Amino acid sequence: MNLRIEFATVRDLPAIVNLVRQLAIYEELEHAMVATEDDFRRALFGPDRQAEALIAFTGDAPVGFALYFYTFSTFLGKRGIYLEDIFVEPAYRGRGIGKALLRKLARIAKEQNCGRMEWSVLTWNQPSIDFYRRLGAVTLEEWRMFRLTGGALEALGK
Ligand code: ACO
Repeated sequence: MNLRIEFATVRDLPAIVNLVRQLAIYEELEHAMVATEDDFRRALFGPDRQAEALIAFTGDAPVGFALYFYTFSTFLGKRGIYLEDIFVEPAYRGRGIGKALLRKLARIAKEQNCGRMEWSVLTWNQPSIDFYRRLGAVTLEEWRMFRLTGGALEALGK
């Protein structure tokens, strides 16, 4: 299959937008996907970089990606990696590409002396939950995710 996992470059911006949009459609959240190429250019390649991305290529074709950033755990006293998105094009699933992306990320976590990797998944996304469990990841049943956004964020920040 000639699979390569590479750090994303500016050349990959159109592919990143396309892959994120496909993920949003899969998650039935296309209406929430408003990010543009310029947003990703700033976030991934700007002077004040906020996130990083890996691209899976077969030949020259980008067929999957993982986008992540660093967190910090006070309890561990170490950084962690937060996996924001992982996606593999439907035609390329089940060939080890998702696992190769997360293996590369686990290597980065080790190199950067991170204490853990974390991510969220929609409760109905059972195929991905099975995929994650198979890699040895566990669900955090006792934790709830919170989000402050829109008017509530605006109001609190006044
Ligand atoms: N059920 C059970 N096991 C699975 C499944 C599944 N649906 N899918 C993959 N696996 C297993 C494989 O059998 C393989 O096991 P093995 O190593 O023991 O043989 C292992 O998981 C790795 O499978 P890959 O072929 O590497 O997985 P793939 O390339 O298909 O990528 C992914 C998995 C990324 C979840 C892909 O299916 C996908 O893009 N799904 C749609 C988008 C999605 O749900 N993304 C995650 C959203 S959550 C987030 O982004 C943090």
